[in-house]
Amino acid sequence: MTASDAARPPVTELLATARPLVGAPMAGGATTPRLAAAIAAAGGFPFLAGGYLTAEALRVQIDEFRQLAGHVPFGVNLFVPGQAVVDEAAFAAYADRLAPLADELDAPISVRPVMDDDDHFGEKLQALLADPVPVVSLTFGLPAPEAVARLHAVGTCVLATVTDAPEAEAAAGIGCDGLIVQGSRAGGHAGTHDPLRAVAEVETADLVREVRERVDLPVIAAGGVDGPEAVAALLEAGALAVQVGTLLLRTHEAGTSAVHRQALADPDFTQTALTRAFTGRLARSLRNRFIDDYAAAAPPAYPQVHHLTKPIRTAAAKAGQPDWVHLWAGTGWQSAREEPAAATLARLTPPR
Ligand SMILES: Cc1cc2nc3c(=O)[nH]c(=O)nc-3n(C[C@H](O)[C@H](O)[C@H](O)COP(=O)(O)O)c2cc1C
Repeated sequence: MTASDAARPPVTELLATARPLVGAPMAGGATTPRLAAAIAAAGGFPFLAGGYLTAEALRVQIDEFRQLAGHVPFGVNLFVPGQAVVDEAAFAAYADRLAPLADELDAPISVRPVMDDDDHFGEKLQALLADPVPVVSLTFGLPAPEAVARLHAVGTCVLATVTDAPEAEAAAGIGCDGLIVQGSRAGGHAGTHDPLRAVAEVETADLVREVRERVDLPVIAAGGVDGPEAVAALLEAGALAVQVGTLLLRTHEAGTSAVHRQALADPDFTQTALTRAFTGRLARSLRNRFIDDYAAAAPPAYPQVHHLTKPIRTAAAKAGQPDWVHLWAGTGWQSAREEPAAATLARLTPPR
């Protein structure tokens, strides 16, 4: 910390909420300002999901959250853009494979990979420097150390999502204040810094222990929560708090699409799978026909595959057809209930 830095409270203080639970940032619509405000009101620590949004849309969400929740600590999550490496032949072959499905759904796809999508990272960072928030969490990689220093200078705590011990050491090395340690059971995208790396099947509690042995930073554990015992085990492993995603997807305040909500409650879905089929990056989804039919052909190109399949997923979701939609879900999905988010947090809180 330099003399010019605005004071920032330690992560341990910010996360000393009534419940040791964090509402996960879930980009793509699931996390709404209303959900984040409900998490705050219920005694958890709320996040807004900045991924996929423009800087202006993020600002609108922050304003809405502040109006609903008042002056409470909260976080904003950003995707850190990586180097786009696209095997154009493999990409074209995947587009060819998808073309009949796209025709069937009347959802035209663009066969040219989108190469200039940095998720508006620079603009969103500028917006968060101009109007600082208490916490920023970073996913999919680490920015230049100056970005962390600039957030610190405006009084913002910086957290990084990590999926193994070397990523945790790298995050500590650029000055992050805390870690979100994500195990392979988590729903949605794996936050691996190298998008080409395989994700090892690992219990989140074991990963928390391993990271805590190597890095002396506060840890929020994420991945696979299905009840209060899972939360207790993660706290026991040394986590300061537990980040919950999937179990919030069916809550009243979430913005989860109708087709996704229905699939999460549908007993015909019996498994989750880690797949690159939808976006080119490994992500855990309910196993559906899209994964079975296309995963083997999907190249590891994010966000290019995300843009390629988006028209298909959008058309299928609109038609209420879960076979062709990304149905993000962690391994605990069967414990997600349709209820107020406050009820979810209450039933996940282990007895003291
Ligand atoms: C629908 C969905 C969207 C997600 N979007 C994001 C995101 O935008 N940023 C992020 O850091 N993590 C995201 N995640 C991962 C969560 O932050 C968290 O790691 C995960 O949900 C925890 O595991 P669980 O789903 O088993 O509770 C998402 C998860 C889901 C289910």
